Amino acid sequence: MAQEKLNTLVMPDNNGNFGKHGGKIGHPDLANALAEIEQGFHNIIKDADFISEMKRLQTTFVGRPSPIYHARSLSKRGAQIFLKREDLNHTGAHKINHCIGEVLLAKKLGKKKVIAETGAGQHGVALATAAALLGLECEIHMGVVDIAKEHPNVSRMKILGAKLVPVSAGAGTLKEAVDSAFASYMSQIKDSMFAIGSVVGPAPYPEMVAYFQSIVGHEAREQFEAQHGGLPDEVIACVGGGSNAMGLFNAFIDDKSVELVGVEPAGEGLDKPGRHAATLSLGKFGNIQGFNCYYLQEEDGTPSAVHSIASGLDYPGVGPQHCYLKDIGRARYEVATDAECLEAFLALSREEGIIPALESSHAVAYALRRAAQLDPSKRLLVNLSGRGDKDIDFVLGKIEV
Ligand SMILES: Cc1ncc(COP(=O)(O)O)c(C=O)c1O
Repeated sequence: MAQEKLNTLVMPDNNGNFGKHGGKIGHPDLANALAEIEQGFHNIIKDADFISEMKRLQTTFVGRPSPIYHARSLSKRGAQIFLKREDLNHTGAHKINHCIGEVLLAKKLGKKKVIAETGAGQHGVALATAAALLGLECEIHMGVVDIAKEHPNVSRMKILGAKLVPVSAGAGTLKEAVDSAFASYMSQIKDSMFAIGSVVGPAPYPEMVAYFQSIVGHEAREQFEAQHGGLPDEVIACVGGGSNAMGLFNAFIDDKSVELVGVEPAGEGLDKPGRHAATLSLGKFGNIQGFNCYYLQEEDGTPSAVHSIASGLDYPGVGPQHCYLKDIGRARYEVATDAECLEAFLALSREEGIIPALESSHAVAYALRRAAQLDPSKRLLVNLSGRGDKDIDFVLGKIEV
């Protein structure tokens, strides 16, 4: 069975850095709390009982391994398109992979509660699920705009027993939810653990979340070789904070023949400031929410307004490991617009019978574009990070049926 493990290229140095990106938090109270989490994380991943409990939950609760599916109808465009079906996981997305790990860790550290932000609500649902399973309290902060858009996930969090904190500050989306969740964590730091939803934030979060998500790529690599022979030519994933992409890319970093392609939201167009969230494509270096990365910013360094049709992608920053992979030329970052995302959402629904999350549809949109440029011998492996149940009412409001 595939096992979590990080490639050394995406492991931090002692200061939590990946090249010039990443870093540790300076604030003394928070620094102590994050050091406790970091130490706890490094201990548990060497603990055979922890690993065996995590494996048990991955197989019997989450439903791993998720299959690889050859999308034959979509592949009629040119290159062969394969999907890593993270949408089939319990709770409907890849987020459950790191939530099981984070909540097991919180329990081991003797915490009573986990606290987090959510954008599309997938991380919130996954964390609320893992907390219900393992008997911890759960507090989720979510922007009011996202609450209105992703109401099925809001209902699920409430049913699972999570406390939902609506955030109306600023744009009322993901960045403000992160600020609010961190502030709440600071006020109850002793008994709670901040359980971040992506490979973002100060150390140890990028390393920890990437480690728990690495199961996706290790599984996919083994499955692809066994079922289809050899390796794909490109592995493709959407990038919000970057956790599903990092989970897939990690296992292929040493395979020089495999291109790693992240797909960012171009929203209404890269020429419209404030109406996209193409961080790696257009961001500048700086510090946002306690870590260094490329982020979309104004002249004075304040984070720019961002937009994407997919609530889980509209964050002005991005994980430091992705920034580093971009700097060293190991990964390439492309974009897909809101319109291309909707087209891909419908293509996958109507040609393959799979309704994808709007986030994942960005990766599908790039794959459709790319497949048409390549001959049928080429193979593209897309991380289908989540299912679209949460998005169906929103999409119906946008299209003619
Ligand atoms: C289904 C799905 N895919 C992707 C993302 C983006 O997050 P990340 O870039 O961390 O994978 C989200 C975030 O909410 C999501 O719900």
